[in-house]
Amino acid sequence: MDKPQREQWQSKRGFLLAALGSAVGLGNVWRFSYVAGENGGGAFLLVYLFIVLLVGVPLLLGEFALGRRMQSESATAVARLVPSSRWRHAGLIGIVAAGLILAYYAVIAGWVFRYAALYLTGAAPDLASGSHAAAFEAYIASPLQPLAWQLLGMALTTAIIAQGVEKGIEKVSLVLMPVLALLLIGLAVHSATLPGFDRGLAFLFQPDWAVLATPGVYLAALGQAFFSIGLAMGVMVTYGSYQPATRPLPGAAVTIVLGDTLFAITAGLVIFPAVFSFGLDPAQGAGLAFIVLPEVFGQMAGGGLVGAAFFLLLSIAALTSMVSLLEVVVAHAMQRWGWSRKRASWSIGGALFALGIPASLGFGLWAGLPLPDGRTILDVMDFIAADLLLPLNGVLLAVLLGWLWPRHEALQAADLHGGGRLGRAWHFSLRYLVPLLVGVVLLGSLAPLVG
Ligand code: TRP
Repeated sequence: MDKPQREQWQSKRGFLLAALGSAVGLGNVWRFSYVAGENGGGAFLLVYLFIVLLVGVPLLLGEFALGRRMQSESATAVARLVPSSRWRHAGLIGIVAAGLILAYYAVIAGWVFRYAALYLTGAAPDLASGSHAAAFEAYIASPLQPLAWQLLGMALTTAIIAQGVEKGIEKVSLVLMPVLALLLIGLAVHSATLPGFDRGLAFLFQPDWAVLATPGVYLAALGQAFFSIGLAMGVMVTYGSYQPATRPLPGAAVTIVLGDTLFAITAGLVIFPAVFSFGLDPAQGAGLAFIVLPEVFGQMAGGGLVGAAFFLLLSIAALTSMVSLLEVVVAHAMQRWGWSRKRASWSIGGALFALGIPASLGFGLWAGLPLPDGRTILDVMDFIAADLLLPLNGVLLAVLLGWLWPRHEALQAADLHGGGRLGRAWHFSLRYLVPLLVGVVLLGSLAPLVG
């Protein structure tokens, strides 16, 4: 075959940082803080840790192994695993879900970029305490400005993807991820000087055991783990396919999951002490980052600088995650239709921007749509992608990897042949734990639909 050689990561560090860049995103800062806030803090964290170790690491390793073994983007990798069964189309779910997530993720990322620009230029308005919610709501309801930031974010993401794996994704990750780490460490050190630090610590680490009796906590933790690590969308299959066979995968999977979790916890250590220091409520839901924190920055000494660092951090985290989501869809289009990378990038980036427009207008012009439970268009897209397609594809992937991939081949592909106990634990998790737990989550998401 005279196919051009498949693109590859140039270094182990590049691969690790790109995968971490995919994992660390709005999910770690914005979503984690409000999900933990709503689910009781410390006890949630404990459940979350169990889940990332029992489910997150095995599935991530499975995705890497599949991608590297099949040397193809995710949907094709699945098709090659089970070429003649009706399961061969299962990989398409991930492609669709990744595109859908990117479409609305770009809306929230757009808000983040706008706040970053305000704080970085010192133009953040000096609002009276208590009026931040109204200012935020008025902003996202305005028709044009949010769309402009969303477009800018998508254009930047697309430009990176159009450059390719090494010159685009890897290069950007190598530069931005260290900056991200420095910003986070700086903010955490600053947070330790705040009067509410102890209360923030207690909130994050002191388990309130009573929450463990509510099933919702487990569902929330599992959903959060999938979203935060970036599982079940094929992202990690595609990223694994750019990995040369000579570099072992299990260590990479553990490193990425632990890094992602550490990042989320540290972000919690930045956010919660600040919230408590100014007597605000941590269980504020999705507005935590855009309403409560600006309030905090407004009252804090040097808050303008802290706000700038915070929103810059969030912008970088969002961008590298958007890159990974677009790459899955683009890699699929290249493989499927033989498109060039440039053509695939710009046409798909454009289409997904268009798909995200309703999600943005749903907060203003189209806010009146009669959606169930007063949900916004973005909520509905998030529900379909993150609560339905993601667990559905998670179960399918685990069944494919654990049951339909011959065991010795799977172990070999994951660099766990001869791994004895580790290999057995990995395979056991893929076969039983992941399908069972994720299946329950899926049923939990379906339950409200059927009443
Ligand atoms: N993990 C990212 C976050 O925490 C979002 C993300 C990137 C993602 N790739 C993904 C979510 C794949 C689900 C699936 O924000």
